[in-house]
Amino acid sequence: MILIIELFDRKLEVKIMYTSHFKMNEQEVIDYLKAKQLFFTAQENKLIAKEIGDGNMNYVYRVTDQGSGRSVIVKQADKYTRSSRKIGQKRNKIEFELLRFEAEKCPDMVPQIFHYDEIMTCIVMEDLKAYQNMRFALMEEKSFPFFSQKIVEFIIKTIVSTMDSFVGPMFKRKQVQKYTNVDACDITERLVLTNPYREKYAQAPIEEVNLPYLYNHFQMDQQLLLEAAKLKYKFKNETQALLHGDLHSGSIFINQTGMKIIDPEFACYAPIGYDIGNVIANLFFAHIRSYVLNPGSEQSKYFRQWIENTVMGIITDFTKKFLLYFQENVTDAMEKSQDYRQWLLHLILEDTAGYAGLEINRRIIGIAKVKDIESIQDKNQKALAERILLMLGRNLIVNRTQIKAAENYTAALAEACALAEREMK
Ligand SMILES: Nc1ncnc2c1ncn2[C@@H]1O[C@H](COP(=O)(O)OP(=O)(O)OP(=O)(O)O)[C@@H](O)[C@H]1O
Ligand SMILES: [Mg+2]
Repeated sequence: MILIIELFDRKLEVKIMYTSHFKMNEQEVIDYLKAKQLFFTAQENKLIAKEIGDGNMNYVYRVTDQGSGRSVIVKQADKYTRSSRKIGQKRNKIEFELLRFEAEKCPDMVPQIFHYDEIMTCIVMEDLKAYQNMRFALMEEKSFPFFSQKIVEFIIKTIVSTMDSFVGPMFKRKQVQKYTNVDACDITERLVLTNPYREKYAQAPIEEVNLPYLYNHFQMDQQLLLEAAKLKYKFKNETQALLHGDLHSGSIFINQTGMKIIDPEFACYAPIGYDIGNVIANLFFAHIRSYVLNPGSEQSKYFRQWIENTVMGIITDFTKKFLLYFQENVTDAMEKSQDYRQWLLHLILEDTAGYAGLEINRRIIGIAKVKDIESIQDKNQKALAERILLMLGRNLIVNRTQIKAAENYTAALAEACALAEREMK
């Protein structure tokens, strides 16, 4: 302790403070890394910190040594979200546990973790500055040929593998307890699975021209409301596998050689289709953005074709790998037949379409928007994008039992585009 006082200013005070939680500012993050002697060498002492978080939940700092240029990320969860809502901090521990688990299964697909602090509720991890946030990459119409295969590998190894069919029901039930994520599930159940369908929330800022459609059709659509309610029931009651829980393009960092998946703080046991549906929905946002902005351009056509191929690739590759994984690894004596695996696969694919639809809807009329659509400047183009997506979202939810083959998605997409174009002429 005394040594620390002699070496660094303020260290004694800081060290004592780390015995109870407080939200760190930029300087305090630097003090923290020095006091804990994390990541940087003693020679790397020209540290600067910057808060780079753009989310709603946590504080994310990049700390860089100006001498060596090396940098690290510190992500801290506070008792309040960045948007000032009081929240439990268990999500931070769950995020750390899940990153650790994912690193065992897919070491090349998660950031390296250097340190976890349960009191300060912060994770010190690799800076993914060599990668780009996939949402922004997609907004620039970049394509990544390996994406469908890689994301399916991640889904099989880190999500499907946690089913009780492989690990046994005793172990899984204990895991369900460990990963019971009360606050995160509450947010999902309100923001994704409820609010977009309630009149009270129809004030969400969508283009005015879409309000009559939203009020008079979408939110009055009893079939849609019933099917959305069934998917909410499933999310609440079905502990099928351990999900990432927030697997959208903003949680993926990517470049031409690989990808890393961050932010599993919403991890919980729920239907696998919720995660796959999220991936697909967020690919569609980029597709529709490109469609309304540059319908005729060759670059856009190429990009949209890549998105469609990627969605189809995810479905076909998941189908193949899921069946194989199940056949090779199932331990439950009752689940060994081919018919059983096929039955289960169909349930997951149905859920995938349904939850893709729910994700689309909530990002258009819910409180948490996506930049892909929100940043479209032209009101008519934005209105068209919103209408296409709401029609697509509805279709995927209501007709999910029919949407199992890869090409059903592209057909649903084309249909929504044609319908919305006709209605908005
Ligand atoms: N390991 C990392 N390397 C580089 N940048 C990162 C890293 N982790 C987070 N970031 C940056 O911080 C942003 C927010 O990170 P993250 O999504 O983990 O925070 P969050 O508070 O959980 O956000 P949300 O409200 O979306 O849940 C990311 O979009 C990215 O720009
Ligand atoms: Mg998050």
